[in-house]
Amino acid sequence: MPEGIYRFPKGFLWGTATAAHQVEGQNENNNWFVWENEPGRIFQSQQAGFACDWWNGRWKEDLTNAAQDGQNSHRFSIEWSRIQPSPDTWDENAVDFYREMLKGMRSLGLKPMVTLHHFTDPLWIYEKGGWENDATPRHFAKFVRKAVAALKDLVNLWITVNEPAVYANGGYLEGSFPPGKSNLGSAYTVMRNMLKGHAAAYTIIHELQKDAQVGYSKNYRGLEPSRAWFPPDIWITNFSSKSFNNAFSNTLVDGKFRFALKKETISEAIATQDFIGVNYYSTDKVVFKPFGVKDIFHRRYYPENARVSGTGFIANIPRGMYAALKWAHQFNLPIYVTENGVEDSTDNMRPAYIIEHIHQIWRAANFNWRVKGYYHWSQVDNFEWERGWSQRFGLWGLDRKTQKRIRRKSVDLYAAICKENGISSETVRIYAPEIFEKLFPG
Ligand code: FCB
Repeated sequence: MPEGIYRFPKGFLWGTATAAHQVEGQNENNNWFVWENEPGRIFQSQQAGFACDWWNGRWKEDLTNAAQDGQNSHRFSIEWSRIQPSPDTWDENAVDFYREMLKGMRSLGLKPMVTLHHFTDPLWIYEKGGWENDATPRHFAKFVRKAVAALKDLVNLWITVNEPAVYANGGYLEGSFPPGKSNLGSAYTVMRNMLKGHAAAYTIIHELQKDAQVGYSKNYRGLEPSRAWFPPDIWITNFSSKSFNNAFSNTLVDGKFRFALKKETISEAIATQDFIGVNYYSTDKVVFKPFGVKDIFHRRYYPENARVSGTGFIANIPRGMYAALKWAHQFNLPIYVTENGVEDSTDNMRPAYIIEHIHQIWRAANFNWRVKGYYHWSQVDNFEWERGWSQRFGLWGLDRKTQKRIRRKSVDLYAAICKENGISSETVRIYAPEIFEKLFPG
């Protein structure tokens, strides 16, 4: 059998990603806490509860594991509602908590990447209309100034907002996120205001920190026409991709925000990213639906031959990772894959998923595209928003009753990749022999 390795560039960042509300527990002053307490909003009305108990210090256990297993970076988010519990109060204990965490990470050899907004809003922001309120970008900017001033000696890699299009879609179109609306006009306003919040954050961070690297995390959804020969399928695929994948990012290039058949100029957003953050999970086939006004004239489904995760949430389509990087490459900036992963409580599907997606990143890096790091979602099972605890994305499993971490095979697989800074034939043979021939033919 051949011996080989898909090697990554020196200095590549290998990590996992988490978000405050999903791992900390006891976050009771934000919009998601309210949402979780409304019956039926979350799968089986589950709640984040103590989550992975990071607020009581269990981040140490998880991040020590991460470092021992060869990771050299970690992406996490700080919780706005903890740092600014009401418009006029700053909680210095919360700031100290994050300082401790950052110091801990650095002493473990993990370079921190900090997300400033990952889906949750303080209750006082939510009560004033959240991101539909034109004053929210200003409030966010004030929070960012406080947080960055307090943490800048410990971190210089910043994500302003996580997945604005998913946030707008979940809360204002599909209704699965708070506030559960279904209104295209509201979704437009939310995206517009998030662009303004992002732009303000970018400017403030650079004002406070000369060597800061600032970007946002884009959830790139692979979209392919169902019938590649059928113009209506091609047209609706391009249309969906423009609204979902391009609206926010293109505004950061030319200042022209176009979404939901409306447009406006947001000139302060021009050139407000130093790198591209891409979250990639899966790819849909898209069919044109002539009478589907409500579904914006389309239907999506997973390719028939793709392997699909337990709850049907994710199909393993690695070529979409390559498409995502190709998309990111057009901006001619460094690229970080800020999330990628699969829910799989049995850990049967995850090993091949990890290897095949990282292999696609290797292809891109090999073309000298500027891919600088990869963050797997996630280090340990955590609270998956409206899907509650039904989806297990962790390299490590979590026993919620005892808070015990359960080592899955994927922990060792990912450790081998991080430690070798690449995917070796030996690793593939051990962890995913079913794809060995595909990666190392002959
Ligand atoms: C992404 C979110 C992240 C996590 C993964 C599975 O859309 O950014 O918080 O829930 O999906």
